[in-house]
Amino acid sequence: MPREDSSKDSSFERSWKKRFGQYADARDDDAGIAGWTRSGLETRVRNFDVLWAPMSEARSWLDAGCGAGTYSRFMAGRGKQVVGLDYCYPAVKKAVDRSRDGIVWGVADVKQLPVATGSFDGAICFGVTQALSNSNEVSRELTAAVKPGGEVWIDALNSACLPHLVGRVKRTLLKQDMHLRYESPRQLHRAMADAGLVKLRRYWIPILPYRFHRYQWAFETRGMRWLLHALPLLGSLLSHGFVIKGYRKQ
Ligand SMILES: C[S@@+](CC[C@H](N)C(=O)[O-])C[C@H]1O[C@@H](n2cnc3c(N)ncnc32)[C@H](O)[C@@H]1O
Repeated sequence: MPREDSSKDSSFERSWKKRFGQYADARDDDAGIAGWTRSGLETRVRNFDVLWAPMSEARSWLDAGCGAGTYSRFMAGRGKQVVGLDYCYPAVKKAVDRSRDGIVWGVADVKQLPVATGSFDGAICFGVTQALSNSNEVSRELTAAVKPGGEVWIDALNSACLPHLVGRVKRTLLKQDMHLRYESPRQLHRAMADAGLVKLRRYWIPILPYRFHRYQWAFETRGMRWLLHALPLLGSLLSHGFVIKGYRKQ
């Protein structure tokens, strides 16, 4: 597949690869290894539990960019066969050390997955796109990795959420580069559709900044989930992230 990197894009990705290596060397908890706050990771996993667990019948899963293996273990704990891949060897090593039997681990780049076409029933890629210069290649790789009809879940940081918009103005005024890549649901939707995924559906992930985390529960009630879904503009302004699920064309 043609590469889409400009040298600026590559240096953005290289600096993230280095940073993830440093996190994994220095830290021992799943959140720290991934570069999340503990409450942020817990929120994400609760969100995944609500969205994924009741819906997914797929048996074999790829966790692309698995970090310390939080989601791999979560899925294996629900009876799935899981392969966890990450390009950061120290993170994979820590995933192996805390692993249950049955999960297969490997070191690999999500932009060049070393798996045969149609190997899995489902694939997830969480917390990765913000460290990539675009979501096109990873969408294509994950789509190829699943069987026709298989499901793909990719998350991203939401470029239209309020705290990000404020931060962006500040960074522009201070002439600072964005150190993470935010994107719109429309952009990721297009990348996934172009990769051959259909029946795409977006879910908001409202995650409050750490200093407000004691109010996080209010955003996870059924009523609030319904409201954010019913009023997409509100969902967008209040949601730090989003996840899009799609199915590979049959
Ligand atoms: C923020 S952490 C998320 C880890 C885990 N998926 C989670 O959500 O908790 C991002 C992970 O993606 C990995 N990663 C980033 N870019 C990658 C790439 N191009 N190929 C493979 N892994 C990548 C990093 O090494 C890191 O472990």
